[in-house]
Amino acid sequence: MDGIRSIEDLAKDGGLAGKRVFIRVDFNVPLDKKTGAITDDARIREALPTIKLAVDSGAKVILASHMGRPKAGKREPSLEVCGVRLTELTGYEVHLPEDCVGDAPRKVIQDLRAGQVCLLENLRFHEEEEKDDEAFARQLAELCDVYVDDAFGCVHRAHASVHALPRLMRDRAAGFLLLKELKSLGRVVSKPEKPFVAVLGGAKVSDKIDVVETLLGLCDTLAIGGAMANTFLAAQGKNMQKSRVEEDKLALARTILAKAEARGVALLLPVDVVVASGLDSMVGSTVSVDAVPVGSMALDIGPKTVELFGKVIERAKTVLWNGPMGLFETPAFAKGTMDLARIMSAAPGFTVVGGGDSAAAVKQAGEAVARGFKHISTGGGASLELIEGKRLPGVDALVSAETAG
Ligand code: 3PG
Repeated sequence: MDGIRSIEDLAKDGGLAGKRVFIRVDFNVPLDKKTGAITDDARIREALPTIKLAVDSGAKVILASHMGRPKAGKREPSLEVCGVRLTELTGYEVHLPEDCVGDAPRKVIQDLRAGQVCLLENLRFHEEEEKDDEAFARQLAELCDVYVDDAFGCVHRAHASVHALPRLMRDRAAGFLLLKELKSLGRVVSKPEKPFVAVLGGAKVSDKIDVVETLLGLCDTLAIGGAMANTFLAAQGKNMQKSRVEEDKLALARTILAKAEARGVALLLPVDVVVASGLDSMVGSTVSVDAVPVGSMALDIGPKTVELFGKVIERAKTVLWNGPMGLFETPAFAKGTMDLARIMSAAPGFTVVGGGDSAAAVKQAGEAVARGFKHISTGGGASLELIEGKRLPGVDALVSAETAG
């Protein structure tokens, strides 16, 4: 975070009063497929401290975000639903120009008074956004005097609003959410207090290979659940029957198992699983990983595995969790993930959830469980790339003009 200013630095001594402050937020929130309603507004809520500081400092606040991955030439999904939610949460009147560049936002911003808020329309309605196009960034730069990035979920993307644009702005800074994310996830990967337990789940070994490599150099215990555990169990010679196994990753799984042993990292795998005949099943039964019945597939971890993982989690000083333990969207296969969430929530260590599906799982476990975690990341891909130790273009672009040279 060296050389990166915070919005608080810019707000000192009335520094934002009357200024047009562009805040890049990540309002890419999940929407109900049928109704279009927001199903989880965490990303909007988490951006509020930054937005409020700008409003209270008398800035003319310009919020910008992408949403979804719009098809070329299509103008959906719209960010209007987020503007409505922002009003519900804050009472602010949120002005909604019908585009993010051009006459529509120019006119709205001209008429904004100090402390008023506008939310630009979906940045990805312009393909130049994802191309990190400099001319598009200049159009955005013309709308503002100051740039603030609070979109942690997007800092791994070299897109115009998070990469080309800040570098055009003399006054650029990070918002509270971005700083909090960098600090919390940074604490886990740079100086984890030991013992450090990483719990990984999710569908594929291939999605997590870089994370696994990094974590093997950092943690004391790596507990693997979810469908990706099937590949490791198969690599150990277990017959996982119809379970999802990445046959082409068996050799890789063996290499990881050997590396863990060589580095003295305890690699824990499920000892029991909840099985059913298919993904559509509504009931499951618990079996040992040595006795998966013919024609069945593993869809959750079993209670003995929860106990095994739970014991190390309770003793850990640092816990990082990324990826669910099973098909938690189906009640019959949610118990392993929910039980683990409850154990982590009550654990005394520094417990961090690395965003994406595991953050959704914690929400499903309930507000009280979510409150027990020290940090729940709002980033999916961004948190993974940070843990992997990759450079984050959106963070690099914030290094102040003076320091960047
Ligand atoms: C996310 O949801 O992880 C961020 O908003 C980034 O979205 P993207 O993966 O479509 O770039």
